[in-house]
Amino acid sequence: MGNRKKVITILGSIRESSINTNILENLASFFTGNIDYPIYDKIGEFPHFNPDLDNEKGPKGIEEFGQELNEADALIFCTPEYARSIPGVLKNTIDWLVSSGQLLNKTVAIIMTSPMVAGGEKAQVSFLQTLEMLNANVVKDGTLVISSVGTKLNSKGEAIDEDTRLFLELVVESIITEIKKKKAPLA
Ligand SMILES: Cc1cc2nc3c(=O)[nH]c(=O)nc-3n(C[C@H](O)[C@H](O)[C@H](O)COP(=O)(O)O)c2cc1C
Repeated sequence: MGNRKKVITILGSIRESSINTNILENLASFFTGNIDYPIYDKIGEFPHFNPDLDNEKGPKGIEEFGQELNEADALIFCTPEYARSIPGVLKNTIDWLVSSGQLLNKTVAIIMTSPMVAGGEKAQVSFLQTLEMLNANVVKDGTLVISSVGTKLNSKGEAIDEDTRLFLELVVESIITEIKKKKAPLA
């Protein structure tokens, strides 16, 4: 890759000791070379979505977030399941992105986590429906559910389960493969 790439990761949990934060911090080790990998952890600061405020600029935080998204080559969401869907704070964020079409064709991967044996899948289905409606480009092998998360990762978010480590690596590889396909803009 000739130019630098940027993969923004977006946390679906705003809890201080979030396991999803740990996962994203550890995921950085799978990225090599000229890829910037900022973790976006401010979605809790966004106002409630209101169509009356959803104009060209939008509220301040949303406007800045939109600019960051425009600069990103890909996004990785990492989120818990709440009440069998994505947390409201993440849905709120997505609602702010609907009218601008900012997820249109955006290269996306999603990682869902759950402490439960069968958790995370319902949220994945729900989130995929939303992303499909917005025509995001969810990459092949870029969807992962980590159920029983407490048995698969240690307290630092490092995978202690080999399959989980390989699947996390695959998510990153699938994102890198996709962004490599995109041509660098002409200088
Ligand atoms: C309001 C609420 C609803 C939840 N609903 C579900 C659920 O439907 N399925 C599930 O697997 N876990 C559910 N959980 C458990 C979360 O997945 C768990 O708290 C998770 O570790 C939070 O991730 P975090 O450590 O990144 O904050 C719920 C937790 C809360 C607080």
